[in-house]
Amino acid sequence: MPFPDLSVFGPGFTWGAATAAYQVEGGVAEDGRCPSIWDTFCRVPGAIDNGDTGDVACDHYHRWPEDVALMRKLGLTSYRFSIAWPRIVPGGTGAVNQAGLDFYDRLVDALLDAGIRPNATLYHWDLPQVLQDRGGWPARETAYAFAEYAAVVAARLGDRVTEWATLNEPLCSAWIGHLEGRMAPGLTDLTAAVHAGFHLHLGHGLAAQAVRAASPGEVRLGITNNLSTCEPATPADADIAAARRADGHINRWWLDPVFGRGYPADMLEVYQVDLPERPGDLATIAQPLDWLGVNYYFRQIIADDPGAVAPFTRQLPGPGPRTAMDWEVHAAGLEELLLRVSRDYGARELVVTESGAAYDDVVAPDGSVHDPERSAYLTEHIAACARAKAAGAPLTGYYVWSLLDNLEWAYGYDKRFGLVHVDYRTQRRTIKSSGHDYADLIRAHQSVFEKQAG
Ligand code: IFM
Repeated sequence: MPFPDLSVFGPGFTWGAATAAYQVEGGVAEDGRCPSIWDTFCRVPGAIDNGDTGDVACDHYHRWPEDVALMRKLGLTSYRFSIAWPRIVPGGTGAVNQAGLDFYDRLVDALLDAGIRPNATLYHWDLPQVLQDRGGWPARETAYAFAEYAAVVAARLGDRVTEWATLNEPLCSAWIGHLEGRMAPGLTDLTAAVHAGFHLHLGHGLAAQAVRAASPGEVRLGITNNLSTCEPATPADADIAAARRADGHINRWWLDPVFGRGYPADMLEVYQVDLPERPGDLATIAQPLDWLGVNYYFRQIIADDPGAVAPFTRQLPGPGPRTAMDWEVHAAGLEELLLRVSRDYGARELVVTESGAAYDDVVAPDGSVHDPERSAYLTEHIAACARAKAAGAPLTGYYVWSLLDNLEWAYGYDKRFGLVHVDYRTQRRTIKSSGHDYADLIRAHQSVFEKQAG
């Protein structure tokens, strides 16, 4: 598939790949790390496919030099990773574990030496279990603890890390973890879910202030949300109303408060749960953002379903091809979403912080991994970004999910999203053909501007 017109992205455009601590690191009991809610959830019988855990994962905790070398081979200009709170403040609050900080310190130095800009996420779902035992995100104290931890990390790494995200996909923590029960901590309680979401937002606002105050260097701060376009399954009034509720549940609930609009009134009606709000909280949540991270995987085709959990909707399968996650491939949704977010929220800068697909990759007898479907997926989504950018969306970067095959949460290790194949038995890494294609695209983009300059 030919590349889209890459000149539209401009000379400084970021081409990256992303991972998250629990999904790749392993080393869960090393150097003072405490258990997280995911270590606990992985032990719940039936919670994770094949009984998989993050105990070893990609062993990135030990193999990070090899992984940075792979990033360099791919020509990435940035690497998005998350920092494990359980490594830094194993008691949840209080004593700081220097050995945990040392790990990220070394990683950041190696990235910078390789010419790769670090983009660090402070929370990608691995809450220290001790804080869950004290109430978790439904408790207000967790937001304060998060800001305390954020300040510690920024003070140590902020002389070299400029790009920070507070939270990754708070929707998943709140709705999937506390309402649907499919992710840690595995609750099915709407009040807990709404309160968790509120305290995640409060934690975001407090952590944003803390990072800006504690960092010795320049800070460019954002938050990452997984957003989707929501279309009614039929023109029936009930489905149109359901699509509006789904949009509130997935998009507006997570964007409105951080952009200073408070929580959507229609969704407060749907949930019928009082927010645990105190005076000043909404202002704290609405900290200025340097960039907004958008993670996009699929569109939502929505039907009314009064028997379902809030927001009382059901997602129907779309007609397009599907990935191994059974997610419909629909690149036009990414273009629509980027334009909508820039139009409706006036985000200063947008970054696609995750885009990618799982396929059932096969290792050929010669050891290579040929995954043309993933290459096509990425090309289509990058083309959608190019169209959005040409139409005025202030897009400055694109990160593939993921650098490596890794633990796909409740789906375990069977779902492979990586540009790099991981053989979990040997920990051997192999750049897939999609990784080579992405490297070619990055080079092609750079050569557009080299030619212009020369
Ligand atoms: O693997 C996840 C990641 O942790 C968060 N965003 C979606 C990815 C694919 O499901």
